[in-house]
Amino acid sequence: MRIVAEELNYVYSEKSKKLAVHALNGVNLTIEAGDFFGIIGKTGSGKSTFVQHLNGLIPTDSKHGKLTVGEFVLSNKKCDYKALRAKVGMVFQYPEYQLFAETVFEDVEFGLKSFYPNLTKEEKEVMVKTAIETVGLNYEEIKDKSPFDLSGGQKRRVAIAGVIVSKPEILVLDEPVAGLDPQGKKEFISLLHTLHKTTVKTIIIVSHDMNLVAENCNKIAVFCDGKVAKVGTPKEVFTDYENIKKTGLDLPLIAFLTQKLQEKGIEISTNLTLENFIKEVFKKHEEVKAKQREGGNR
Ligand SMILES: Nc1ncnc2c1ncn2[C@@H]1O[C@H](COP(=O)(O)OP(=O)(O)O)[C@@H](O)[C@H]1O
Ligand SMILES: [Mg+2]
Repeated sequence: MRIVAEELNYVYSEKSKKLAVHALNGVNLTIEAGDFFGIIGKTGSGKSTFVQHLNGLIPTDSKHGKLTVGEFVLSNKKCDYKALRAKVGMVFQYPEYQLFAETVFEDVEFGLKSFYPNLTKEEKEVMVKTAIETVGLNYEEIKDKSPFDLSGGQKRRVAIAGVIVSKPEILVLDEPVAGLDPQGKKEFISLLHTLHKTTVKTIIIVSHDMNLVAENCNKIAVFCDGKVAKVGTPKEVFTDYENIKKTGLDLPLIAFLTQKLQEKGIEISTNLTLENFIKEVFKKHEEVKAKQREGGNR
């Protein structure tokens, strides 16, 4: 399912002259099926408002631009928002606070009830078990526990199980690694890649963490003042140093180092992953050494 936003607008408290806040000011953006897409931008740039449109949590209409998600035209009055929500799963910031049921099983099962009310008990069990195992938890061990007795990382996984249980094609996560320690972050990102390979087609993450998006996303959109200021691969976005600065963001570490080397006349071509950067630096080093040897032999 491809996502296309055209001139999408949103105003909080639109009817009030005093309180109105223009959160989206003509967003134009296409997210392809299969993308691991990153949305960045400083606080207040409209990231959360935008992603909450994608499953109709913030409904839109034809007066506010156009938004389509696969076959769903969200700006159309007749859009079946319920069917849409089964296809677009949304994981909020600190999803562990969304847990509420007495057991992990019930919590995950809840995600199924509204979308698939006619499933048998056995069918539900299979789906809940699959979801719990997909997020890397042991079903038998965890299903009867209270979600409140789990570790932070486990809670976050259960919350995601409760979203993927309805088999969405698109998974949207707002600040997914906020509050996790470095190891927790690493494990969580690895889970997202597993989900991307096995379970959901498209992943969209909203993040403050430039390193995280540079290393993990195939495409990035930079939000600024309710608009998309730039969209492209991490390399395209983060080598446009001037524009990144203008949007008030920091460069990811690798892009920063690449820029510093460039200032010294050393051109490194990298896709901005640490592994690739190190490889390219060694390559450059070998080139320089070879040139020096050549020079010495003359
Ligand atoms: N519930 C709300 N009511 C009024 N204004 C809001 C609300 N949520 C966000 N805003 C405002 O809308 C703008 C965009 O916010 P948001 O989408 O949360 O940005 P981001 O996620 O990039 O930090 C900001 O000016 C913010 O203050
Ligand atoms: Mg936000």
